[in-house]
Amino acid sequence: MADLVLKDVEKSYGSVKVLSNINLDIKRGELIVFVGPSGCGKSTLLRMIAGLERITGGTLTIDGQVVNDVPPAQRGIAMVFQSYALYPHMTVRDNMAFALKIAKKSKEEIDAAVGKAARILQLDPYLDRLPKALSGGQRQRVAIGRSIVRDPKVYLFDEPLSNLDAALRVATRIEIAQLKEAMPDSTMIYVTHDQVEAMTLATRIVVLAGGGIAQVGSPLELYERPQNEFVAQFIGSPSMNLLPGEIVGTGTTTTVRMKAGGTAVSNYPSQPGDEGMQVNVGVRPEDFLETEGEPIFEGKVDITEALGEVTILYYERVDGAAPVIAKLPGIHKDLRGKVVKLAADPSKVHVFHKEQSLLYRHEPHQKIAAQPH
Ligand SMILES: Nc1ncnc2c1ncn2[C@@H]1O[C@H](COP(=O)(O)OP(=O)(O)OP(=O)(O)O)[C@@H](O)[C@H]1O
Ligand SMILES: [Mg+2]
Repeated sequence: MADLVLKDVEKSYGSVKVLSNINLDIKRGELIVFVGPSGCGKSTLLRMIAGLERITGGTLTIDGQVVNDVPPAQRGIAMVFQSYALYPHMTVRDNMAFALKIAKKSKEEIDAAVGKAARILQLDPYLDRLPKALSGGQRQRVAIGRSIVRDPKVYLFDEPLSNLDAALRVATRIEIAQLKEAMPDSTMIYVTHDQVEAMTLATRIVVLAGGGIAQVGSPLELYERPQNEFVAQFIGSPSMNLLPGEIVGTGTTTTVRMKAGGTAVSNYPSQPGDEGMQVNVGVRPEDFLETEGEPIFEGKVDITEALGEVTILYYERVDGAAPVIAKLPGIHKDLRGKVVKLAADPSKVHVFHKEQSLLYRHEPHQKIAAQPH
């Protein structure tokens, strides 16, 4: 369907800049998910793409045409919101057909489009019902159906599932994945607060923070190779632990003496001269392992949460820092009040510059290391 290019896109409200330097190249058939803290500009960016909000700097191109000044109705974009606002007095069929009737399409065209959307969304049994006789998830599907009948080039979803309860969210999330499979060429942009939705639906995730893009990548790239501490802690739950230390060994692996004692070895390479550099060592709770040897961290377990398949250990806070969290497989209620030493495989140990947390040590060093000597 459509390629979208955002180049140096900006948004200001009066003198307040809420977004800047937005550069994104979205290919036809992708499902891009925007995530980020509340107020970071996800809806604003979506609304600019839809044409509901003026773009105050940069260009938006759809299929090679700059559309900054093209009105929403002519951009070939359909937007589905969190509140689905169906017409209550119209049947499901009429709700879905409404936009096409306004556009004066023939009855045959309308029937074909509604029939196709109903099939994709499995709404056939409900076509003659009123919205009040549907569940929340079914209503949300009708709202999506209203956009499918228009055969848009790009679908925009702004937290479409956030009004649904947990079980329905899971069911509807799977339906959206199936919907995407049924329309492999359609381009979709999806805003969500839900990590699982982002990780399971996205071809690529865009993490927005501080008025710009913190990182763009496939879900697993963001999980395994976060480029900065923000992304490291935003993706994954519970968040990645960040522990201060100082580089004491450089080379193809990096050795860090931890401020609280202990040593971390990371597979990320460093250069001679990096010794003495203050860094934060990042380890995901699920990557910690119990050890009898030299630990990355050691402390007293304050609270345990046994969830069955895993036990979450919360360590005692030291110096007001966030408590260290570890997630060990199995049930370990007996560890409460005990000292448990934690280590991790060097491939799971991340190292971030301390003063400049936006720079990931791995990237520039990896390029240097890859050059033949
Ligand atoms: N009309 C407006 N005038 C001034 N500021 C606005 C306006 N609309 C939005 N903003 C500001 O722009 C920023 C981004 O808002 P936006 O709604 O895009 O955030 P969001 O990422 O979608 O947040 P949430 O996750 O809470 O939905 C916010 O700081 C908001 O206060
Ligand atoms: Mg929003």
